[in-house]
Amino acid sequence: MSIDHLRPYWHPVAWSRAIGTDPVATTLLDQRVVLWRSEGEGIVANADQCPHRGTALSIGTVEDGCLVCPYHGWKFEAAGACVEIPQFGPDASIPARASIERFRCTERYGLVWVALEEPVADIPAFPEWEDPAYRHVECPAYTWETSAERMVENFTDFGHLGYLHDGYLGEKEDLVVASHKVDDVGDALHYAISMNVPNTNDEFTVTDLTSERGVQTNTYVLTLPYTIHLQCHYAETGGNRTLFFVAQPNTATTSTGFCFQSRDFDLEGEDQPYADFQDLLAEQDRPIIESQVPAELPLDLTDELHLPFDRVAIAYRRALSRLRSAA
Ligand code: FES
Ligand SMILES: [Fe+2]
Repeated sequence: MSIDHLRPYWHPVAWSRAIGTDPVATTLLDQRVVLWRSEGEGIVANADQCPHRGTALSIGTVEDGCLVCPYHGWKFEAAGACVEIPQFGPDASIPARASIERFRCTERYGLVWVALEEPVADIPAFPEWEDPAYRHVECPAYTWETSAERMVENFTDFGHLGYLHDGYLGEKEDLVVASHKVDDVGDALHYAISMNVPNTNDEFTVTDLTSERGVQTNTYVLTLPYTIHLQCHYAETGGNRTLFFVAQPNTATTSTGFCFQSRDFDLEGEDQPYADFQDLLAEQDRPIIESQVPAELPLDLTDELHLPFDRVAIAYRRALSRLRSAA
């Protein structure tokens, strides 16, 4: 399936702090991209392919505010024009073809975002980011051999929570999915569900519970194509834990998940358990999701068996079909 219709959206490609003095390679929608930090322009994204011999510029260097190819030393400015070809004498003019594409690139929420074409939508909202009541934890990013669609759908799949994540996000004795409805507002799906969750604090201090289990209400905004804002509210204490999750479509069948855990309780507590908890859940999910065939999400609803408790998946697949046919 073509993924070109996703080019005019902002996608996350790296943590901002991961872009230091050396260029960094990433792949977005099959496009090889080099990210580097320019003194004047902040983080810059260019096509990661030298026009001379196709070398990856991401294994080159940054010198004098330019990206330098490691093979023959050609220098490119942020806008993409080549400004020096050392094999030429001083008076030679540089051909216009000696240039690389520059992509739109911005930083938000500590992430670097790239749009390969003029974006048709803004970067999704993460209201807690600016809210001083919250403390944020970056969870380890993970790259899976699956589509971004499968990765997102898994993040919001209710039926597996108590089964695959028994003791962490639910319990095997309590798998009936509570009733919920999905509001499709065009560019996003809105839905909420209340569930019993176990207190994991013996192992991971992440739940705002004092008893053995408690009621957690999850309120979701799934913004197309790949962002989930999930607010978990604890009935017992009034505490809130937010997960902001977004997937990078590296290719049609490889994707990278970035996730923040943010909380308005335990503000003096350790951050590591929040990251470790998310990492454990991702490792439980990974072999399952990487085993799914096909890796690309079947948008035809007759291809897989959907039951009433899969209504988020049904709505997501319908919304993705719409996005594809609108392109
Ligand atoms: S391949 Fe890049 S300068 Fe020659
Ligand atoms: Fe999961």
